[in-house]
Amino acid sequence: MNPETLETTPRAGDPGAASTPTMQAVAVHPGKPQSVHLARIPRPRLSDVHGGRGVLVKMLSVGVDGTDKEIDAAEYGMAPPGDDYLVLGHESFGRVESVGSAVTEFAPGDHVVATVRRPGTSVYDQIGTYDMTTDDTYFERGINLRHGYLTEYIVEDPEYLVKVPHGLRHTGVLLEPTSIVEKGIAQAFEIQRRLRVWRPRRAAVTGAGTIGLLAALALRLRGLDVTVFGRTPRPYLNSDLIEALGARYLNTAEVPLLEGTRRHGPFDLVFEASGFSPLVFEGMQALAKNGVLVLSSVTGGDRMVEVPADRINLQFVLGNKVVVGTVNANREYFESGVRDHAQAEAQFPGWLSRLVTHRVSGLENFRDLFTTLTMGTGVIKVVCDIAKE
Ligand code: BGC
Ligand code: ZN
Repeated sequence: MNPETLETTPRAGDPGAASTPTMQAVAVHPGKPQSVHLARIPRPRLSDVHGGRGVLVKMLSVGVDGTDKEIDAAEYGMAPPGDDYLVLGHESFGRVESVGSAVTEFAPGDHVVATVRRPGTSVYDQIGTYDMTTDDTYFERGINLRHGYLTEYIVEDPEYLVKVPHGLRHTGVLLEPTSIVEKGIAQAFEIQRRLRVWRPRRAAVTGAGTIGLLAALALRLRGLDVTVFGRTPRPYLNSDLIEALGARYLNTAEVPLLEGTRRHGPFDLVFEASGFSPLVFEGMQALAKNGVLVLSSVTGGDRMVEVPADRINLQFVLGNKVVVGTVNANREYFESGVRDHAQAEAQFPGWLSRLVTHRVSGLENFRDLFTTLTMGTGVIKVVCDIAKE
């Protein structure tokens, strides 16, 4: 047996250890590259949340993404205080098993998705907008200082759970990445209220991965003409999905962003989701007057580029343009994500499900999750099916 699988959290000599029910989880030792392993950890209890407000959720499916890869590469992520491991997984979907006596929002059998970030201390955290924290330290389940969802059960406060209607349960696991896109677009619209009237017509999305695809969907649902720029030649699954939305796919090797802008822009909204930071400066030059550029890529490197600084600055000043960064999402954006999933299912039936290209069954097959994630073209969303209904 792999010695890693013998790892248990209840400490030897702990009198409660023998009686503490445990469960499986996929975890890493933060700071140690390629340390992903199957662990046994204590099963959470309803009473872990005080005042009868606990909700016990059985995890059904959890998606993985580049962030999980970076955490396993030890580029990112910290263990919760007192633990030497971090349970991975922040794209959750589960079913409520039981609820505490003071929970009115959920009942057993409800399908739910849990939000990722937990409040710190800033004023933004205090009003439920923890995605806007100004604290240096942030808490994110499955990412930083809080255990994640690649496990059998979690217990949460209702504040951090979002109900997924029965008819949308097959798209629930995509809600967390959708929430990222919802926040970015909502930020853009919120900022553009400065214009009194903003009627965006043309949008560009840079990057055709999960976030780029979901951004293209959300912008099409809002009636925009959408051009997506990616670095893979069409046709392939992602370009097919983009074209199925009535959006346009351009390969940047054939049509660079600025050439695409001459043909189909300039763009009132540019959503950057390529993970390639030099594109930010081309994105700035692709904006129409009064346009807004939304940056959503988490880029951990230290890449340098030369840019036409005077030109970019002049266009921004003379064109009243905006660039905004966006990270994470609070429950408001998970809720608007549910509404967009519903509209998407009505307008583009089955489209969302096509994003889930690979499913790995059982936490014990966690290695397949990571090898699939790095397979390249043909892979969009990889999901671990943890349990059946
Ligand atoms: C997650 C976000 C998180 C961000 C930064 C992303 O992969 O989806 O919820 O805020 O990483 O840690
Ligand atoms: Zn993520």
